[in-house]
Parts: sequence; C-alpha cells; structure tokens
Amino acid sequence: MAILVTGGAGYIGSHTVLALLERGDDVVVLDNLYNASRESINRVEKLAGKKAVFVEGDVLDRECLRELFASHDISSVIHFAALKAVGESTRLPLEYYQNNVSGTLILLEEMRNAGVWNFIFSSSATVYGADAPVPYVETLPIGGTTSPYGTSKFMIELIMRDFAKAEPQFKAIALRYFNPVGAHESGEIGEDPTGIPNNLLPYIAQVAIGRLDKLGVFGGDYDTPDGTCQRDYIHVVDLAEGHLKALDHLKKTDGYKAYNLGGGKGFSVLEMIKAFEEASGKTIAYEIKPRRDGDLPAFWADAALANKELNWRVTRGIDEMMRDTWKWQSQNPNGFR
Ligand code: NAD
Ligand code: UD1
Repeated sequence: MAILVTGGAGYIGSHTVLALLERGDDVVVLDNLYNASRESINRVEKLAGKKAVFVEGDVLDRECLRELFASHDISSVIHFAALKAVGESTRLPLEYYQNNVSGTLILLEEMRNAGVWNFIFSSSATVYGADAPVPYVETLPIGGTTSPYGTSKFMIELIMRDFAKAEPQFKAIALRYFNPVGAHESGEIGEDPTGIPNNLLPYIAQVAIGRLDKLGVFGGDYDTPDGTCQRDYIHVVDLAEGHLKALDHLKKTDGYKAYNLGGGKGFSVLEMIKAFEEASGKTIAYEIKPRRDGDLPAFWADAALANKELNWRVTRGIDEMMRDTWKWQSQNPNGFR
C-alpha cells in the first residue's frame, strides 16, 4: 500500500515525502510542478535512499487521478496541492477557488470511486478569521476569512465535515498550520519561492545572501511588546512529522477532525531578525514600513489537542529554524535552479 501525496514536490510536501520514505512508507507524488521543481524529489530520494513514484499531473485532471488510483494501491492521501499566495488570491479569486476547492472536490470524488477513504488536508490558521481570540483553539468557530485563499481552506474543511457525515468510511484530518519556516537539516531541500518572496523568512534569507537589499518590516506600531507583529513559527520538519502522526491517528478514529500544528508561542518580526542574525552571522538591513493590508497583530496556536491526541509536539526551536533556513539558502543561493 502507498500514500498518495499531492503537491509532494512543494515546500512542505517534499519534507513530508522524505519523512514518509525514511520510515519505510511507499509514496506516490502527484504534482503539476506549477510551484515546484522535479529536483526537490530527486534530492528527497537521495536523502532517503529510497525512490518515490513521481506523477507529473494535476488534481483537476480526473483521468489522471483515475489512472493513478487504478495503477497504484493507495491507502491514504495527503493533500498539499494548492495555490497559496494570499495577496494573489484577492486578484485571482476564480483561479484560487478552481484550483483549491474544485481540485479537492475532484480528488475526493476519485478517492470515493477508488474506495480510498483516508484523507489528510493542509489547512491553515487563517481559517480562524480576523476576529478570533488568541491563542487559537480548535473549539473556536471557523470562518470570517478575509481572502479567497483563506476562504478556500474554510470551504474545504466544510466539505470534509459534510462528506464525513454522509460517508461513514471517510476519515479525514485537517491540519491547521501556523507559520512554517526552516528547511531540512541537510540543507538539501527547502522553500524556493519564485520571484520576490511574500513571506518573512525567505525574504530575510534573500537579504542575507545579497539577492535583496533590505527587509521592509510591515508596521512598527502594533499593540505588541516591540510594536511588530507576532506569529507562531513552526519548523517544517516538525510540521512534516505532524502528518505522519495524523496518518497514524486516522487508524484509530472516525469522521472529520481538525488539529492546530503550531508551537504555541508568538515571536515578533524583530525577534526573528535578531535570531536570524545570530544563526547566520549576517546583518539584516531593515526599515519599518507601513502596515501590510490584512495583517493581524498577533496570533499563535493552542497546540494541546495535537499534543494529546496525535502525540505530536514541536521539538525544534527558533535557533534550529534559523540555522536550517540559512543552511538551505547559503548552499542553494538560487534555490533548486
Ligand atoms: P508549495 O506551493 O510549495 O506546494 C504546493 C504544491 O502543489 C506545489 O508543488 C505545486 O506545484 C503543487 N500544485 C498546486 N496546484 C496543483 C494542482 N492543481 N495539481 C497538482 N499539483 C498542484 O506550498 P507549501 O508551502 O508547501 O504548502 C503546501 C500546502 O500547505 C498548501 O495547501 C498550502 O495552502 C498549505 N499551507 C501552507 C502554509 C505555508 O506557509 N507554506 C501555511 C498554511 C497552509
Ligand atoms: C501569511 C498569510 C497566511 C498564510 C501564511 C503562510 C497574509 C495576510 N497571511 O501569513 O494566510 O497562511 O502567510 O503562507 O498574507 N513581514 C514583514 N515583511 C515582509 C514579510 C512579512 O514585516 O517582507 C511580517 C508580516 O507583517 C507578518 C510576519 O512578518 O507579521 C509574517 O509574515 P508572513 O511570513 O507573510 O506570514 P503571515 O502574514 O503570518
């Protein structure tokens, strides 16, 4: 039996495929390479000393999914494939709903046709919406999302919930990620954004290697200890391990359930800059800029449910996040290219 990993060539997917191969699972990766490179899977295979099956294809392509399910014995699906740029989603809402929501519907239909019932989904802390109290806990209502990207994650969680109610064999876990950062400790795989990065850590790393001049810190006048926003950053390898724990948990559970995957502590933008400087020995030039539209001042996870039910917790701190980001960036100044 194999695990199907959609979007497995991407940032979080590649780290998860590596963790699966390392523990001996067979893996089929489906990725259309829209935001990833085939090289990431080559490197994963080298690190693991084991091959994955790679299918270049799209979750929107029903025929491709049918063929894949017919030719491989799939036990479970981990569904990473999505478009993920929040700002872009406000300009291209139809593309985001089509890729993320329709893509998931087609995947679930073809899973049902193939009799595959175990499903892990990449959700996001963004499903808690703009007004949720901190820390975010799974008992809070979800919704009130402020971008088509966030709403696509919210809609998919509702679809999972309703499908699980209607189909007793369907077992599904939504993992609500907080802010994934870092890279595999080998420095062989990591986050490789195209163009100018939107997210904080890739931006800092590109300033450090001289690809970008200066970081703009979005807002210095928030009601937080140092005036900059706080987020719950989580090492991508801890996050990958959360998927393995969730897969194990599916065997003991029914229906649909959601878990926060975060460290439970907020770090400010200035704290992140300082930690990166300490890990890399580089100085990060920065300037305080106006607030970015849509940014929330501060949020972090209550991760007690995942600790208790998935037997998962973060084991890598801010120093490892910075060390591994720097190793990846300095060894691969142009990413996978
Ligand atoms: P990523 O862009 O690196 O990975 C997504 C992968 O999916 C890419 O390899 C891309 O080529 C592929 N893909 C996209 N649409 C596809 C389609 N229609 N068919 C087949 N493949 C397709 O992103 P990531 O950071 O690894 O994120 C993985 C998942 O986690 C996404 O669902 C994302 O929304 C979610 N998530 C990410 C973050 C984050 O900060 N990175 C936070 C919360 C949730
Ligand atoms: C963003 C998304 C969120 C998504 C997450 C992971 C928004 C509003 N939210 O979260 O939905 O789940 O990415 O992909 O886009 N910062 C700077 N300068 C920069 C970049 C970022 O100061 O150049 C600050 C931001 O203001 C924020 C923090 O760094 O306070 C983290 O930003 P980022 O990495 O983009 O993540 P989020 O905004 O938390």
